[in-house]
Amino acid sequence: MVDSVIWDIGYLFSASLFILGIKRLSSPKTAPQGNRLGAYGMFLAVAVTMAKMYSDGIIDFYLIAAGLGLGTLIGFYMATKVEMTEMPELVALFNGFGGGASALVGFSEVLKRLQDNDIPDSGVELYATWLAIGLSGLVGWVTLSGSLMAMGKLRGGFYVPFTKKDDRGRRKWISFPTWGPPWLNFVKGALLIGCLMMIGMTIQDPESKQYIYAIVAMSSLLGILFVLPIGGADMPVVVSLLNSMSGIAAAFTGFVIGNNVLIIAGSMVGAAGLILTFIMCKAMNRTLTAVLFKSFGGAGKESVTRTKVGSDPEEVAMVCDGISKCVIIPGYGMAVSQAQHSVKEFADLLEEQGVEVRYGIHPVAGRMPGHMNVLLAEASVPYEQLIEMDDINSELPETDVALVIGANDTVNPVARTGEGPLGGMPIIDADKARVVVIIKRSLSVGYAGVDNDLFYENKTMMLFGDGKKMMNELNSSIKEL
Ligand code: TAP
Repeated sequence: MVDSVIWDIGYLFSASLFILGIKRLSSPKTAPQGNRLGAYGMFLAVAVTMAKMYSDGIIDFYLIAAGLGLGTLIGFYMATKVEMTEMPELVALFNGFGGGASALVGFSEVLKRLQDNDIPDSGVELYATWLAIGLSGLVGWVTLSGSLMAMGKLRGGFYVPFTKKDDRGRRKWISFPTWGPPWLNFVKGALLIGCLMMIGMTIQDPESKQYIYAIVAMSSLLGILFVLPIGGADMPVVVSLLNSMSGIAAAFTGFVIGNNVLIIAGSMVGAAGLILTFIMCKAMNRTLTAVLFKSFGGAGKESVTRTKVGSDPEEVAMVCDGISKCVIIPGYGMAVSQAQHSVKEFADLLEEQGVEVRYGIHPVAGRMPGHMNVLLAEASVPYEQLIEMDDINSELPETDVALVIGANDTVNPVARTGEGPLGGMPIIDADKARVVVIIKRSLSVGYAGVDNDLFYENKTMMLFGDGKKMMNELNSSIKEL
Protein backbone atom coordinates (compact mmCIF):
# COMPACT_ATOMS: atom_id res chain seq x y z
CA MET A 1 0.00 0.00 0.00
CA VAL A 2 2.76 2.42 1.06
CA ASP A 3 4.75 1.31 -1.97
CA SER A 4 1.90 2.00 -4.35
CA VAL A 5 1.52 5.54 -2.93
CA ILE A 6 5.23 6.19 -3.47
CA TRP A 7 5.07 5.06 -7.11
CA ASP A 8 1.93 7.12 -7.70
CA ILE A 9 3.63 10.21 -6.23
CA GLY A 10 6.61 9.60 -8.55
CA TYR A 11 4.25 9.30 -11.54
CA LEU A 12 2.40 12.43 -10.43
CA PHE A 13 5.68 14.38 -10.44
CA SER A 14 6.56 13.07 -13.83
CA ALA A 15 3.09 13.94 -15.21
CA SER A 16 3.45 17.45 -13.74
CA LEU A 17 6.78 17.83 -15.55
CA PHE A 18 5.07 16.78 -18.82
CA ILE A 19 2.32 19.36 -18.30
CA LEU A 20 4.79 22.15 -17.44
CA GLY A 21 6.91 21.11 -20.42
CA ILE A 22 3.98 21.33 -22.83
CA LYS A 23 3.02 24.71 -21.41
CA ARG A 24 6.55 25.99 -22.02
CA LEU A 25 6.57 24.63 -25.57
CA SER A 26 3.89 27.15 -26.51
CA SER A 27 6.43 29.95 -27.01
CA PRO A 28 9.70 29.72 -28.97
CA LYS A 29 11.44 31.55 -26.13
CA THR A 30 10.59 28.96 -23.47
CA ALA A 31 10.47 25.93 -25.79
CA PRO A 32 14.02 24.62 -25.08
CA GLN A 33 13.22 24.62 -21.36
CA GLY A 34 9.89 22.91 -22.08
CA ASN A 35 11.75 20.21 -23.97
CA ARG A 36 14.12 19.66 -21.06
CA LEU A 37 11.24 19.45 -18.56
CA GLY A 38 9.53 16.82 -20.74
CA ALA A 39 12.78 14.82 -20.90
CA TYR A 40 13.20 14.99 -17.09
CA GLY A 41 9.58 13.84 -16.73
CA MET A 42 10.25 10.86 -18.99
CA PHE A 43 13.47 10.02 -17.13
CA LEU A 44 11.58 10.09 -13.82
CA ALA A 45 8.79 7.91 -15.25
CA VAL A 46 11.31 5.31 -16.44
CA ALA A 47 13.20 5.42 -13.11
CA VAL A 48 10.00 5.01 -11.06
CA THR A 49 8.82 2.13 -13.26
CA MET A 50 12.15 0.34 -12.88
CA ALA A 51 12.15 0.88 -9.12
CA LYS A 52 8.58 -0.44 -8.97
CA MET A 53 9.51 -3.53 -10.97
CA TYR A 54 12.55 -4.08 -8.74
CA SER A 55 10.40 -3.88 -5.64
CA ASP A 56 7.92 -6.34 -7.22
CA GLY A 57 10.84 -8.63 -8.01
CA ILE A 58 10.05 -8.73 -11.75
CA ILE A 59 12.98 -6.91 -13.25
CA ASP A 60 15.60 -8.29 -15.55
CA PHE A 61 18.29 -5.62 -15.29
CA TYR A 62 20.42 -7.04 -18.10
CA LEU A 63 17.54 -7.05 -20.56
CA ILE A 64 16.49 -3.53 -19.59
CA ALA A 65 20.08 -2.24 -19.74
CA ALA A 66 20.50 -3.83 -23.18
CA GLY A 67 17.27 -2.21 -24.43
CA LEU A 68 18.13 1.18 -22.94
CA GLY A 69 21.70 1.06 -24.25
CA LEU A 70 20.71 0.05 -27.76
CA GLY A 71 17.83 2.54 -27.88
CA THR A 72 20.04 5.36 -26.60
CA LEU A 73 22.76 4.62 -29.15
CA ILE A 74 20.33 4.43 -32.08
CA GLY A 75 18.41 7.52 -30.91
CA PHE A 76 21.61 9.51 -30.37
CA TYR A 77 22.98 8.52 -33.77
CA MET A 78 19.73 9.43 -35.56
CA ALA A 79 19.22 12.72 -33.73
CA THR A 80 22.78 13.92 -34.38
CA LYS A 81 22.90 12.76 -38.01
CA VAL A 82 19.50 14.03 -39.12
CA GLU A 83 19.40 17.07 -41.38
CA MET A 84 16.91 19.78 -40.44
CA THR A 85 15.08 19.10 -43.72
CA GLU A 86 14.70 15.42 -42.78
CA MET A 87 13.05 16.09 -39.41
CA PRO A 88 9.48 15.26 -40.55
CA GLU A 89 10.65 11.78 -41.62
CA LEU A 90 12.34 11.25 -38.27
CA VAL A 91 9.21 12.42 -36.43
CA ALA A 92 7.13 10.02 -38.54
CA LEU A 93 9.51 7.17 -37.68
CA PHE A 94 9.46 7.97 -33.97
CA ASN A 95 5.65 8.08 -34.02
CA GLY A 96 5.70 4.66 -35.64
CA PHE A 97 8.07 3.31 -32.97
CA GLY A 98 5.75 4.69 -30.28
CA GLY A 99 2.72 2.98 -31.79
CA GLY A 100 4.67 -0.23 -32.42
CA ALA A 101 6.00 -0.31 -28.85
CA SER A 102 2.50 0.07 -27.42
CA ALA A 103 1.13 -2.63 -29.70
CA LEU A 104 3.96 -5.00 -28.76
CA VAL A 105 3.43 -4.44 -25.03
CA GLY A 106 -0.29 -5.21 -25.47
CA PHE A 107 0.58 -8.28 -27.54
CA SER A 108 3.11 -9.59 -25.00
CA GLU A 109 0.55 -9.04 -22.23
CA VAL A 110 -1.83 -11.41 -24.05
CA LEU A 111 0.88 -14.05 -24.46
CA LYS A 112 1.92 -13.69 -20.82
CA ARG A 113 -1.64 -14.03 -19.56
CA LEU A 114 -2.25 -17.06 -21.76
CA GLN A 115 0.98 -18.64 -20.54
CA ASP A 116 0.16 -17.94 -16.87
CA ASN A 117 -3.44 -18.98 -17.44
CA ASP A 118 -4.40 -15.61 -16.00
CA ILE A 119 -7.56 -14.93 -18.01
CA PRO A 120 -10.53 -13.46 -16.19
CA ASP A 121 -13.54 -15.75 -16.54
CA SER A 122 -16.02 -13.11 -17.52
CA GLY A 123 -17.36 -9.78 -16.45
CA VAL A 124 -15.98 -6.26 -16.51
CA GLU A 125 -12.34 -7.26 -16.07
CA LEU A 126 -12.39 -9.52 -19.12
CA TYR A 127 -14.18 -6.92 -21.25
CA ALA A 128 -12.01 -4.02 -20.09
CA THR A 129 -8.68 -5.85 -20.40
CA TRP A 130 -9.30 -7.54 -23.73
CA LEU A 131 -10.92 -4.42 -25.20
CA ALA A 132 -7.91 -2.31 -24.15
CA ILE A 133 -5.50 -4.95 -25.54
CA GLY A 134 -7.43 -5.08 -28.83
CA LEU A 135 -7.64 -1.31 -29.19
CA SER A 136 -3.98 -0.75 -28.30
CA GLY A 137 -3.12 -3.34 -30.96
CA LEU A 138 -5.43 -1.82 -33.56
CA VAL A 139 -4.27 1.77 -33.04
CA GLY A 140 -0.63 0.76 -32.45
CA TRP A 141 -0.21 -1.38 -35.59
CA VAL A 142 -2.04 1.20 -37.74
CA THR A 143 0.34 3.83 -36.35
CA LEU A 144 3.43 1.73 -37.01
CA SER A 145 2.66 0.72 -40.59
CA GLY A 146 1.08 4.11 -41.42
CA SER A 147 4.09 5.99 -40.05
CA LEU A 148 6.58 3.84 -41.95
CA MET A 149 4.55 4.51 -45.09
CA ALA A 150 4.45 8.25 -44.30
CA MET A 151 8.20 8.26 -43.74
CA GLY A 152 8.77 6.47 -47.03
CA LYS A 153 6.57 8.95 -48.86
CA LEU A 154 8.27 11.96 -47.28
CA ARG A 155 11.69 10.58 -48.29
CA GLY A 156 10.43 9.82 -51.78
CA GLY A 157 10.81 6.08 -51.16
CA PHE A 158 12.92 3.48 -49.40
CA TYR A 159 16.23 2.29 -50.71
CA VAL A 160 16.86 -1.38 -51.19
CA PRO A 161 20.05 -2.50 -49.40
CA PHE A 162 22.77 -4.31 -51.35
CA THR A 163 21.55 -3.06 -54.74
CA LYS A 164 23.94 -1.23 -57.05
CA LYS A 165 24.32 2.53 -56.54
CA ASP A 166 23.34 4.86 -59.38
CA ASP A 167 25.34 7.89 -60.66
CA ARG A 168 24.06 9.97 -57.71
CA GLY A 169 25.31 7.37 -55.26
CA ARG A 170 21.76 6.22 -54.41
CA ARG A 171 20.73 2.63 -54.27
CA LYS A 172 17.57 1.40 -55.91
CA TRP A 173 14.48 3.03 -54.44
CA ILE A 174 11.00 1.68 -53.86
CA SER A 175 8.74 4.66 -54.17
CA PHE A 176 5.09 4.85 -53.22
CA PRO A 177 2.55 6.45 -55.52
CA THR A 178 -0.21 8.62 -54.14
CA TRP A 179 -3.03 6.31 -55.12
CA GLY A 180 -6.54 6.25 -53.79
CA PRO A 181 -9.54 5.31 -55.94
CA PRO A 182 -12.85 6.00 -54.14
CA TRP A 183 -13.48 2.27 -53.57
CA LEU A 184 -10.36 2.12 -51.40
CA ASN A 185 -12.37 3.86 -48.68
CA PHE A 186 -14.71 0.83 -48.61
CA VAL A 187 -11.74 -1.51 -48.26
CA LYS A 188 -10.44 0.60 -45.37
CA GLY A 189 -13.91 0.64 -43.79
CA ALA A 190 -14.16 -3.16 -44.16
CA LEU A 191 -10.72 -3.64 -42.56
CA LEU A 192 -11.68 -1.39 -39.65
CA ILE A 193 -14.94 -3.26 -39.09
CA GLY A 194 -13.04 -6.55 -39.43
CA CYS A 195 -10.55 -5.45 -36.74
CA LEU A 196 -13.37 -4.44 -34.39
CA MET A 197 -15.05 -7.81 -34.97
CA MET A 198 -11.78 -9.58 -34.18
CA ILE A 199 -11.53 -7.59 -30.93
CA GLY A 200 -15.07 -8.80 -30.15
CA MET A 201 -13.96 -12.37 -30.91
CA THR A 202 -10.99 -12.07 -28.52
CA ILE A 203 -13.46 -11.22 -25.76
CA GLN A 204 -15.70 -14.15 -26.74
CA ASP A 205 -12.81 -16.55 -26.93
CA PRO A 206 -9.89 -15.06 -24.98
CA GLU A 207 -7.82 -18.22 -25.16
CA SER A 208 -7.43 -18.23 -28.95
CA LYS A 209 -4.45 -16.42 -30.33
CA GLN A 210 -5.54 -16.39 -33.97
CA TYR A 211 -7.82 -13.38 -33.50
CA ILE A 212 -4.90 -11.40 -32.13
CA TYR A 213 -2.79 -12.34 -35.18
CA ALA A 214 -5.70 -11.30 -37.42
CA ILE A 215 -5.80 -7.90 -35.67
CA VAL A 216 -2.05 -7.46 -36.28
CA ALA A 217 -2.36 -8.32 -39.99
CA MET A 218 -5.53 -6.32 -40.70
CA SER A 219 -4.54 -3.21 -38.79
CA SER A 220 -1.06 -3.17 -40.37
CA LEU A 221 -2.67 -3.31 -43.81
CA LEU A 222 -5.16 -0.63 -42.75
CA GLY A 223 -2.27 1.68 -41.76
CA ILE A 224 -0.66 1.29 -45.18
CA LEU A 225 -3.92 1.89 -47.06
CA PHE A 226 -4.72 4.81 -44.75
CA VAL A 227 -1.59 6.72 -45.83
CA LEU A 228 -1.35 5.48 -49.45
CA PRO A 229 -3.84 7.98 -50.96
CA ILE A 230 -2.43 10.94 -49.07
CA GLY A 231 0.27 13.08 -50.55
CA GLY A 232 1.49 16.56 -51.22
CA ALA A 233 0.78 19.23 -48.68
CA ASP A 234 -1.47 16.89 -46.67
CA MET A 235 1.42 14.74 -45.44
CA PRO A 236 2.28 16.85 -42.36
CA VAL A 237 -1.34 16.64 -41.24
CA VAL A 238 -1.20 12.86 -41.42
CA VAL A 239 2.12 12.75 -39.53
CA SER A 240 0.56 14.88 -36.80
CA LEU A 241 -2.52 12.61 -36.70
CA LEU A 242 -0.28 9.54 -36.45
CA ASN A 243 1.52 11.25 -33.60
CA SER A 244 -1.80 11.64 -31.84
CA MET A 245 -2.60 7.98 -32.52
CA SER A 246 0.72 6.85 -31.03
CA GLY A 247 -0.36 8.64 -27.83
CA ILE A 248 -3.78 7.00 -27.87
CA ALA A 249 -2.19 3.57 -28.35
CA ALA A 250 0.10 4.27 -25.37
CA ALA A 251 -2.89 5.29 -23.23
CA PHE A 252 -4.70 2.02 -24.07
CA THR A 253 -1.54 0.09 -23.22
CA GLY A 254 -1.40 1.99 -19.91
CA PHE A 255 -4.83 0.50 -19.12
CA VAL A 256 -3.63 -2.96 -20.13
CA ILE A 257 -0.60 -3.01 -17.83
CA GLY A 258 -2.11 -0.73 -15.18
CA ASN A 259 0.49 2.03 -15.58
CA ASN A 260 -0.88 5.47 -14.66
CA VAL A 261 1.87 7.58 -16.17
CA LEU A 262 1.46 5.83 -19.53
CA ILE A 263 -2.25 6.65 -19.46
CA ILE A 264 -1.54 10.31 -18.62
CA ALA A 265 1.36 10.81 -21.06
CA GLY A 266 -0.46 8.90 -23.81
CA SER A 267 -3.61 11.00 -23.39
CA MET A 268 -1.53 14.18 -23.49
CA VAL A 269 0.25 13.15 -26.69
CA GLY A 270 -3.12 12.08 -28.15
CA ALA A 271 -4.76 15.42 -27.33
CA ALA A 272 -1.76 17.58 -28.35
CA GLY A 273 -1.40 15.74 -31.67
CA LEU A 274 -5.10 16.14 -32.39
CA ILE A 275 -5.02 19.87 -31.61
CA LEU A 276 -1.99 20.32 -33.90
CA THR A 277 -3.75 18.32 -36.62
CA PHE A 278 -6.73 20.68 -36.53
CA ILE A 279 -4.50 23.79 -36.42
CA MET A 280 -2.71 22.55 -39.54
CA CYS A 281 -5.97 21.72 -41.32
CA LYS A 282 -7.16 25.24 -40.58
CA ALA A 283 -3.88 26.73 -41.86
CA MET A 284 -4.31 24.84 -45.13
CA ASN A 285 -8.06 25.46 -45.28
CA ARG A 286 -8.80 21.76 -45.54
CA THR A 287 -11.07 19.59 -43.47
CA LEU A 288 -9.65 16.51 -41.79
CA THR A 289 -12.14 14.36 -43.72
CA ALA A 290 -10.92 15.82 -47.00
CA VAL A 291 -7.32 15.12 -46.01
CA LEU A 292 -8.02 11.55 -44.99
CA PHE A 293 -10.54 10.39 -47.54
CA LYS A 294 -9.81 12.33 -50.72
CA SER A 295 -6.71 11.46 -52.66
CA PHE A 296 -4.80 14.67 -53.09
CA GLY A 297 -1.41 16.08 -53.90
CA GLY A 298 -0.25 13.27 -56.08
CA ALA A 299 -1.54 14.65 -59.34
CA GLY A 300 2.05 15.41 -60.40
CA LYS A 301 3.79 18.70 -60.72
CA GLU A 302 2.77 21.38 -63.22
CA SER A 303 5.40 22.02 -65.86
CA VAL A 304 6.55 25.62 -66.07
CA THR A 305 6.63 27.09 -69.58
CA ARG A 306 6.78 30.84 -68.90
CA THR A 307 10.05 32.73 -68.54
CA LYS A 308 11.19 35.68 -66.45
CA VAL A 309 14.40 37.67 -66.58
CA GLY A 310 16.26 37.51 -63.28
CA SER A 311 17.56 40.50 -61.35
CA ASP A 312 20.97 40.78 -59.74
CA PRO A 313 21.91 41.48 -56.11
CA GLU A 314 23.16 45.03 -56.89
CA GLU A 315 19.74 45.98 -58.31
CA VAL A 316 17.95 44.56 -55.27
CA ALA A 317 20.38 46.32 -52.91
CA MET A 318 19.53 49.63 -54.60
CA VAL A 319 15.79 48.95 -54.23
CA CYS A 320 16.32 48.26 -50.52
CA ASP A 321 18.21 51.54 -50.09
CA GLY A 322 16.07 54.15 -48.35
CA ILE A 323 13.01 51.95 -47.69
CA SER A 324 11.23 52.13 -44.34
CA LYS A 325 9.74 48.64 -43.96
CA CYS A 326 10.77 45.15 -45.09
CA VAL A 327 9.00 41.87 -44.43
CA ILE A 328 11.07 38.71 -44.84
CA ILE A 329 9.03 35.62 -45.77
CA PRO A 330 11.05 32.42 -45.34
CA GLY A 331 10.18 29.02 -46.75
CA TYR A 332 11.55 25.57 -47.36
CA GLY A 333 14.40 26.84 -49.58
CA MET A 334 15.83 28.81 -46.65
CA ALA A 335 16.03 25.54 -44.70
CA VAL A 336 17.63 23.67 -47.62
CA SER A 337 20.28 26.32 -48.20
CA GLN A 338 20.73 27.00 -44.45
CA ALA A 339 20.44 30.71 -45.21
CA GLN A 340 19.05 31.75 -41.82
CA HIS A 341 22.28 33.39 -40.60
CA SER A 342 22.65 35.35 -43.85
CA VAL A 343 19.00 36.38 -43.59
CA LYS A 344 19.65 37.68 -40.07
CA GLU A 345 22.68 39.60 -41.35
CA PHE A 346 20.49 41.15 -44.07
CA ALA A 347 17.95 42.20 -41.43
CA ASP A 348 20.74 43.68 -39.27
CA LEU A 349 22.09 45.69 -42.21
CA LEU A 350 18.64 47.12 -42.95
CA GLU A 351 17.97 47.87 -39.29
CA GLU A 352 21.23 49.78 -39.07
CA GLN A 353 19.75 52.06 -41.74
CA GLY A 354 16.57 52.54 -39.68
CA VAL A 355 14.42 50.09 -41.67
CA GLU A 356 11.69 48.26 -39.74
CA VAL A 357 12.20 44.52 -40.35
CA ARG A 358 9.65 41.79 -39.58
CA TYR A 359 9.38 38.13 -40.53
CA GLY A 360 6.11 36.71 -41.89
CA ILE A 361 5.74 33.11 -40.73
CA HIS A 362 3.26 30.86 -42.50
CA PRO A 363 2.05 27.99 -40.28
CA VAL A 364 3.04 25.35 -42.85
CA ALA A 365 6.16 27.00 -44.30
CA GLY A 366 8.98 24.49 -44.64
CA ARG A 367 8.36 20.84 -43.94
CA MET A 368 7.32 20.66 -40.29
CA PRO A 369 5.36 22.74 -37.80
CA GLY A 370 7.53 25.56 -36.46
CA HIS A 371 10.29 24.81 -39.01
CA MET A 372 11.00 28.48 -39.74
CA ASN A 373 10.81 29.52 -36.09
CA VAL A 374 13.43 26.94 -35.14
CA LEU A 375 15.83 28.02 -37.89
CA LEU A 376 15.43 31.73 -37.23
CA ALA A 377 15.79 31.22 -33.48
CA GLU A 378 19.05 29.38 -34.23
CA ALA A 379 20.23 32.54 -36.03
CA SER A 380 19.24 34.64 -32.96
CA VAL A 381 16.38 36.47 -34.66
CA PRO A 382 14.37 38.15 -31.86
CA TYR A 383 11.12 36.24 -31.23
CA GLU A 384 9.06 39.41 -31.29
CA GLN A 385 10.00 39.95 -34.95
CA LEU A 386 8.44 36.61 -35.95
CA ILE A 387 4.89 37.53 -36.90
CA GLU A 388 2.16 35.02 -37.64
CA MET A 389 0.43 35.01 -41.01
CA ASP A 390 -2.82 36.74 -40.04
CA ASP A 391 -1.00 39.59 -38.30
CA ILE A 392 1.64 40.17 -40.97
CA ASN A 393 -0.97 40.18 -43.76
CA SER A 394 -2.51 43.37 -42.44
CA GLU A 395 0.95 45.01 -42.59
CA LEU A 396 1.95 43.95 -46.10
CA PRO A 397 0.07 46.69 -48.01
CA GLU A 398 2.27 49.23 -46.14
CA THR A 399 5.46 47.25 -46.75
CA ASP A 400 8.09 48.55 -49.18
CA VAL A 401 9.87 45.27 -49.85
CA ALA A 402 8.69 41.71 -49.24
CA LEU A 403 11.75 39.46 -49.43
CA VAL A 404 10.64 35.90 -50.11
CA ILE A 405 13.47 33.45 -49.46
CA GLY A 406 12.85 29.88 -50.61
CA ALA A 407 9.07 30.10 -50.16
CA ASN A 408 6.66 29.28 -52.95
CA ASP A 409 3.29 27.63 -52.10
CA THR A 410 2.85 29.78 -49.00
CA VAL A 411 2.88 32.98 -51.13
CA ASN A 412 1.13 31.59 -54.21
CA PRO A 413 -1.89 33.80 -55.07
CA VAL A 414 -3.55 30.90 -56.94
CA ALA A 415 -4.68 29.69 -53.51
CA ARG A 416 -7.19 32.57 -53.45
CA THR A 417 -9.01 31.18 -56.50
CA GLY A 418 -10.09 28.15 -54.51
CA GLU A 419 -8.98 25.89 -57.39
CA GLY A 420 -6.35 23.13 -57.53
CA PRO A 421 -4.21 21.55 -54.83
CA LEU A 422 -3.59 24.87 -53.06
CA GLY A 423 -7.20 26.05 -53.44
CA GLY A 424 -8.41 27.88 -50.35
CA MET A 425 -5.14 27.60 -48.42
CA PRO A 426 -4.52 30.90 -46.63
CA ILE A 427 -1.31 32.53 -47.87
CA ILE A 428 0.99 35.33 -46.85
CA ASP A 429 0.01 38.30 -49.01
CA ALA A 430 3.53 39.01 -50.32
CA ASP A 431 1.98 40.30 -53.55
CA LYS A 432 0.44 43.24 -51.65
CA ALA A 433 3.88 44.73 -50.87
CA ARG A 434 5.20 47.50 -53.15
CA VAL A 435 8.14 45.42 -54.39
CA VAL A 436 8.55 41.66 -54.07
CA VAL A 437 12.00 40.06 -54.15
CA ILE A 438 12.03 36.29 -54.53
CA ILE A 439 15.17 34.23 -53.96
CA LYS A 440 15.11 30.70 -55.39
CA ARG A 441 17.11 28.75 -57.92
CA SER A 442 14.61 28.67 -60.76
CA LEU A 443 10.97 29.25 -61.65
CA SER A 444 10.14 25.69 -60.65
CA VAL A 445 7.13 24.77 -58.56
CA GLY A 446 6.98 24.23 -54.79
CA TYR A 447 5.77 21.25 -52.75
CA ALA A 448 2.21 21.24 -54.08
CA GLY A 449 3.47 21.27 -57.68
CA VAL A 450 1.67 24.43 -58.77
CA ASP A 451 3.07 27.29 -60.92
CA ASN A 452 3.17 30.67 -59.20
CA ASP A 453 1.88 33.86 -60.92
CA LEU A 454 3.68 36.01 -58.37
CA PHE A 455 7.02 35.28 -60.09
CA TYR A 456 5.82 36.92 -63.30
CA GLU A 457 4.34 40.12 -61.85
CA ASN A 458 6.04 43.38 -62.88
CA LYS A 459 6.75 44.33 -59.30
CA THR A 460 8.52 41.03 -58.64
CA MET A 461 12.32 40.78 -58.87
CA MET A 462 13.62 37.23 -59.11
CA LEU A 463 17.07 36.55 -57.67
CA PHE A 464 17.92 33.15 -59.11
CA GLY A 465 20.39 31.07 -57.11
CA ASP A 466 20.97 29.14 -53.93
CA GLY A 467 19.34 30.93 -50.98
CA LYS A 468 22.45 31.33 -48.85
CA LYS A 469 24.69 32.31 -51.75
CA MET A 470 22.23 34.96 -53.01
CA MET A 471 21.65 36.35 -49.52
CA ASN A 472 25.42 36.68 -49.03
CA GLU A 473 25.79 38.44 -52.38
CA LEU A 474 22.88 40.74 -51.52
CA ASN A 475 24.46 41.56 -48.15
CA SER A 476 27.80 42.36 -49.85
CA SER A 477 26.02 44.63 -52.32
CA ILE A 478 24.21 46.46 -49.51
CA LYS A 479 27.52 46.98 -47.69
CA GLU A 480 29.10 48.39 -50.86
CA LEU A 481 26.38 51.01 -51.43
P1 TAP B 1 7.65 25.26 -51.14
O1 TAP B 1 6.36 25.63 -51.71
O2 TAP B 1 7.94 23.82 -50.94
O3 TAP B 1 8.77 25.90 -52.08
C1 TAP B 1 10.10 25.89 -51.71
C2 TAP B 1 10.90 26.51 -52.81
O4 TAP B 1 12.23 26.56 -52.31
C3 TAP B 1 10.94 25.70 -54.07
O5 TAP B 1 10.06 26.21 -55.05
C4 TAP B 1 12.40 25.74 -54.50
O6 TAP B 1 12.50 26.41 -55.74
C5 TAP B 1 13.06 26.59 -53.42
N1 TAP B 1 14.37 26.06 -53.04
C6 TAP B 1 14.72 24.77 -52.86
N2 TAP B 1 16.02 24.69 -52.56
C7 TAP B 1 16.50 25.95 -52.55
C8 TAP B 1 17.76 26.52 -52.31
N3 TAP B 1 18.84 25.76 -52.03
N4 TAP B 1 17.89 27.85 -52.37
C9 TAP B 1 16.83 28.62 -52.66
N5 TAP B 1 15.61 28.14 -52.91
C10 TAP B 1 15.44 26.82 -52.85
O7 TAP B 1 7.93 25.98 -49.74
P2 TAP B 1 6.99 26.78 -48.75
O8 TAP B 1 6.50 28.04 -49.37
O9 TAP B 1 7.77 26.83 -47.50
O10 TAP B 1 5.71 25.88 -48.58
C11 TAP B 1 5.76 24.69 -47.85
C12 TAP B 1 5.00 23.63 -48.60
O11 TAP B 1 5.30 22.37 -48.02
C13 TAP B 1 3.49 23.81 -48.49
O12 TAP B 1 2.86 23.30 -49.63
C14 TAP B 1 3.16 22.96 -47.27
O13 TAP B 1 1.81 22.58 -47.20
C15 TAP B 1 4.09 21.78 -47.50
N6 TAP B 1 4.48 21.07 -46.32
C16 TAP B 1 4.56 21.71 -45.14
C17 TAP B 1 4.93 21.03 -44.03
C18 TAP B 1 4.95 21.79 -42.73
S1 TAP B 1 4.21 21.22 -41.46
N7 TAP B 1 5.55 22.92 -42.68
C19 TAP B 1 5.28 19.67 -44.10
C20 TAP B 1 5.23 19.02 -45.36
C21 TAP B 1 4.80 19.75 -46.46
P3 TAP B 1 13.75 26.15 -56.70
O14 TAP B 1 13.81 24.68 -56.92
O15 TAP B 1 13.48 26.95 -57.91
O16 TAP B 1 14.96 26.65 -55.95
